[in-house]
Amino acid sequence: MEGTPKQPKNCSSLLEELVEQARQAPRGGQVADYIPALAEVDPDHVGIAVVELDGTVHTAGDAHVPFSIQSISKIFGLAMAMSRTDDTLWERVRMEPSGQAFNSVVQLEWEHGIPRNPFINAGAIVIADVLTSRYSASKTAFLQYVRYLAGKESISADHRVWESEKQHGNRNAALAYLMKSFGNIESDVPAVLDHYFFQCAVSMSCVDLAKSLAFLANKGVQPGSEERICDARSAHRINALLSTSGMYDQSGEFAFTVGLPAKSGVGGGIVAVVPDYGVICAWSPPLNRFGNPARAVSMITDFAQRLGLSVY
Ligand code: DON
Repeated sequence: MEGTPKQPKNCSSLLEELVEQARQAPRGGQVADYIPALAEVDPDHVGIAVVELDGTVHTAGDAHVPFSIQSISKIFGLAMAMSRTDDTLWERVRMEPSGQAFNSVVQLEWEHGIPRNPFINAGAIVIADVLTSRYSASKTAFLQYVRYLAGKESISADHRVWESEKQHGNRNAALAYLMKSFGNIESDVPAVLDHYFFQCAVSMSCVDLAKSLAFLANKGVQPGSEERICDARSAHRINALLSTSGMYDQSGEFAFTVGLPAKSGVGGGIVAVVPDYGVICAWSPPLNRFGNPARAVSMITDFAQRLGLSVY
């Protein structure tokens, strides 16, 4: 961290300004349509929330509107799997950037079914396999976990998105069966994919996401309840993976310009962790060529630069 973040006179008015700027800016891409139910979202939604460790919440725009969390769910899945496994997990999924698209198949064959990291789809499918084999009802356990972290019982999965992705999930099925052929998937592939699609289909707002991931900014302890969610080493590891792989093939550029651990999803959300300060979550559905939401990237970039937030 570059010292204590500079506090703007009024954080909420800065967020309002960023949302207004984003609304005026070009969309910067197209809404994801390879999962047909996602294509129905209004591309003009723009929201941002900042949750500080003392519980202060700042919001602007559509910060309370739930959206499909998609790959942001990979953070929750990873934290759950790390709590149920030991370091042998890292023999099944590595901790390196992939340099490939999030749903790429090619590298996986060269590398004998061991995904580069838990945030590309193949890696998250291995994590889903860990959850399906370690929990008797992994989907329920996943939902309970995020509800508990967000402090909101009404969080649920959007069943239309879940079904839609199941029907159009051939690439993820290919990744899963390829890994199964290398012995890196224990459970039946359909059960693993069912869990994976379910967790991606969970709907949460910017506020829900920022609140639920605050433990990552606080060395594993959820502020407010003071409950330990993971040990400090796991929080460090998840943040390191977010920094190197959370924004996929744009992770280097994001580290270069922003310098915060972050994770995007094709529903248009991004969460960014600011250690010892809080969590930022921005949402705008249209995606750039890396599969990251263009206007949400800009809002987080501007916010971090205006406040001097960076882990480097
Ligand atoms: O598996 C998929 O393709 C989607 N459920 C999640 C991909 C995703 O969010 C990638 N993130 N930018």
